[in-house]
Amino acid sequence: MAAPRLVLLGKQGAGKGTQSVRLAEHYAVPHLSTGDMFRAQAALGTAFGLEARRFMDQGELVPDDVVIGVIEECLAPGGPLEGGFVLDGFPRTLPQAKALDRLIKSHPVDVVVDLEVPTDIVIDRIAGRRVCTLCQRVYHVNMPPKVNWTCDDDGAPVVQRDDDTEEAVMRRLALYESQTKPIIDHYRAQDLLVTVDGIGDGDDVFERIVEAVEKRLAQG
Ligand code: AP5
Ligand code: MG
Repeated sequence: MAAPRLVLLGKQGAGKGTQSVRLAEHYAVPHLSTGDMFRAQAALGTAFGLEARRFMDQGELVPDDVVIGVIEECLAPGGPLEGGFVLDGFPRTLPQAKALDRLIKSHPVDVVVDLEVPTDIVIDRIAGRRVCTLCQRVYHVNMPPKVNWTCDDDGAPVVQRDDDTEEAVMRRLALYESQTKPIIDHYRAQDLLVTVDGIGDGDDVFERIVEAVEKRLAQG
């Protein structure tokens, strides 16, 4: 079977990052999170990263042309995503979804997974989320790293994200409703959408996603 091209949708805190890492490992394809990319650039202090951070910290979206410009390079023929991928956090607006269709016309997305979790649960998850400042690995206060809030993988500090303030989270959730939800209909119309229940144990959620993806892939 060819390496799949997967897109993970879901509101903030639904578990996109958590599950994308596992899916990328399972299918041996790269995981691309635009949020992780922007945070890494901001931590390095690049002009691009600092500009992106201005939007992120307010809970606003980075402008479409900037995001599409970055993704375009990754999706170019011969680029890192040519042989399959898990996209996490992109696309997140209708113009981004249409740009993605255009960019990978010759090798389109196979399955779009919509991870469904109610808002009260995601707010709770985000409040307890902590991330590695170096590799962006996601933890939770209920599932901390082994040693004193340093990352199990690289030993870097594990902290709360700058955009996980109550104000920014509310803005991000509002933008999800107005900007990202319309993408669900876009992919439903293309018959690419599978909806997966994102509540419960992370292992169970992972199994549900793989089952739904396999079923959809088998349909061709
Ligand atoms: P991004 O980094 O993508 O953030 P987000 O969309 O707000 O999504 P999150 O990362 O908050 O949630 P997640 O679904 O990944 O949840 P996670 O796995 O961490 O984007 C940040 C910002 O960058 C945007 O606001 C925007 O400014 C900018 N940006 C990025 N992409 C953009 C784009 N395409 N266009 C424009 N702007 C863009 O899980 C959350 C917590 O829950 C964790 O603590 C985790 O341990 C826990 N958890 C996970 N699964 C479970 C489970 N099953 N049970 C219990 N706890 C769980
Ligand atoms: Mg994430």
